[in-house]
Amino acid sequence: MSETTTLAAAPAETSAARPHAREIGIIMNGVSGRMGYRQHLVRSILAIRDQGGVELPDGTRVTVKPLLVGRNAVKLAELAAAHGIEDCTTDLDAALADPRWEIYADFLVTKARAAAIRKAIAAGKAIYTEKPTAESVDEALELARLAGAAGIKTGVVHDKLYLPGLQKLRRLIDSGFFGRVLSIRGEFGYWVFEGDWQPAQRPSWNYRAEDGGGIISDMFPHWNYVLENLFGPVRSVYAQAAVHVADRWDENGDHYTATAEDAAYGIFELEGGAIAEINSSWTVRVNRDELVEFQVDGTHGSAVVGLFGAKIQHRNATPKPVWNPDLADTHDYGADWAEVPANDVFQNGFKQQWEDFLVSYVLGTPYEFDLLAGARGVRLAEAGLRSSREGRRIELPALTLE
Ligand SMILES: NC(=O)c1ccc[n+]([C@@H]2O[C@H](COP(=O)([O-])OP(=O)(O)OC[C@H]3O[C@@H](n4cnc5c(N)ncnc54)[C@H](O)[C@@H]3O)[C@@H](O)[C@H]2O)c1
Repeated sequence: MSETTTLAAAPAETSAARPHAREIGIIMNGVSGRMGYRQHLVRSILAIRDQGGVELPDGTRVTVKPLLVGRNAVKLAELAAAHGIEDCTTDLDAALADPRWEIYADFLVTKARAAAIRKAIAAGKAIYTEKPTAESVDEALELARLAGAAGIKTGVVHDKLYLPGLQKLRRLIDSGFFGRVLSIRGEFGYWVFEGDWQPAQRPSWNYRAEDGGGIISDMFPHWNYVLENLFGPVRSVYAQAAVHVADRWDENGDHYTATAEDAAYGIFELEGGAIAEINSSWTVRVNRDELVEFQVDGTHGSAVVGLFGAKIQHRNATPKPVWNPDLADTHDYGADWAEVPANDVFQNGFKQQWEDFLVSYVLGTPYEFDLLAGARGVRLAEAGLRSSREGRRIELPALTLE
């Protein structure tokens, strides 16, 4: 296949000659995809570019310069033109060989990710990637080890932690609002159309196990970092996966049989004793305020948080229901909850994490959401699938690089 490259000439001036701004070249692979385009290119890197970069503690700025990488030269050129981007190429190897690009960012389909990251590590690039970092925990750990051995900085998307609702939850936890956290109930999902009478709103590879699909490998990496960062590491999982809707139609309108689960019912035991129960489903109709909601119950208070909203009920405001199925209950349970105010300005979570990663990369400070954290997410997905296959609970000891 012939490669197509449009690269602007290297600037004569080096970053050393411009002490007030350091420009970081970022290889953005898979930028035409859903996540690559909307969240990482438009809402993060271009937004950072357009605001003039990110400020460092010493007042200097880090600016960004994207290189769009993909397989379709025409699509890339259109994207580049639409957004005033100078550089695009279908030749990943050439991009990796060029020292102007310091960070390799990966938004490919999951199946294509590990091979590309392996190459980028070999080329000495810092890594920033979507989750899941690989298709198996062995491969995810191998990537983490390779990066560690090469002394490379790595970052893995932990976007849900930056959601306004989850940031409010973080604040509630930090304030001691809950007392002892007893349980977490998560409900995630919505109806994804089959693709025949209405086009499906997710790519068809999501429903093919052989293409890296399935809601467990998609969502359990998220649940792992949400749980471990807010409540404690996951120490065991029991999950039941289901292919509820096997007949689906792809992007071309062709029928296929789903081989990957479209729903998963999981129970997660956390270090410290709290139990999380999270349903993930693309085959459920929404009867909630938001597409994801978590109810957290603690000895002193409870909260229900979503993407944006958060409401709380303190033990002093807890009603005392008595079970009596013979009497219609007229109590308005919804009225017992109080909204948590924002008290802050929350920006797009993907962008916030990119900014944090860039600052950490430039300053050389530790970054906890790395490829090992990503590997823990992949392990939870793998253990969830195994639990479902074998019909038993899977223990998850601490994961290390050794
Ligand atoms: N953080 C989140 O909330 C979130 C949400 C959805 C998806 N994701 C993850 O983002 C990744 C991309 O998902 P998406 O929904 O954007 O998918 P998508 O299908 O929309 O995009 C995938 C991209 O990969 C490219 N691609 C496909 N096959 C390839 C191959 N064999 N070689 C090289 N490139 C290939 C496509 O051209 C496209 O640019 C997945 O790993 C997924 O798990 C994360």
